[in-house]
Amino acid sequence: MQTDKLDKKTTLVLKEIEKKGERFYIQSKGRKEVIKLWRISFEKGLLLHNLIIQLKPKKILELGTSVGYSTLFLVDAAKKVKAFVESIEVMQEKCEIAKSNLDKASLSKYCKIINANILNSMESYAEKIDFIFMDANKSQYTVYYKGFNKNLNSGAIIFADNILKETTNGFKEIIRQDLGQNIREYEINYKDDYLQATKL
Ligand SMILES: C[S@@+](CC[C@H](N)C(=O)[O-])C[C@H]1O[C@@H](n2cnc3c(N)ncnc32)[C@H](O)[C@@H]1O
Repeated sequence: MQTDKLDKKTTLVLKEIEKKGERFYIQSKGRKEVIKLWRISFEKGLLLHNLIIQLKPKKILELGTSVGYSTLFLVDAAKKVKAFVESIEVMQEKCEIAKSNLDKASLSKYCKIINANILNSMESYAEKIDFIFMDANKSQYTVYYKGFNKNLNSGAIIFADNILKETTNGFKEIIRQDLGQNIREYEINYKDDYLQATKL
């Protein structure tokens, strides 16, 4: 897949994260700890990027930042369509790395990394959202969906990662229940599995 739609700096930071591999070390409570890095594939990142360029959402919310690999795709596209991204991550150390990665790509001003537990943030979250990328705890997708439903603008997109592979505790079912009311669903096999639902 072509990468020329990504800024050069963004591509470099993405490659740097890829080179570090699946494990990286952090200093936590005076100890060196290893963290397993889960991230989307480069191809899926490009898919997210393309979707944002095409659909031009104004406000994007990411659930599960990790060290900002997927965030870089979201924010690079957001910059191009004059959108803004907020991304929530519970681990402070990961937030710091994500912020530094966005800095390196000169993308910080288009994104806010929020160090919080999503479950404690949903009720007070007051922003309106046009696009959600769900990639935190798969077993809590239903809870996230219910919690952020009040924030969704008409036509909002929910892009939920890995729901065909992992247990999502009724997420697929609840999306389907809402079908025919105000939700359209697309289920696509694209290298890794994902589901995209559109609220009309
Ligand atoms: C699969 S990783 C995210 C990968 C990232 N989106 C990427 O592709 O680069 C999931 C992340 O969600 C975070 N997470 C899980 N449950 C969370 C919660 N309740 N609140 C905030 N973050 C959470 C984890 O700490 C982890 O970093």
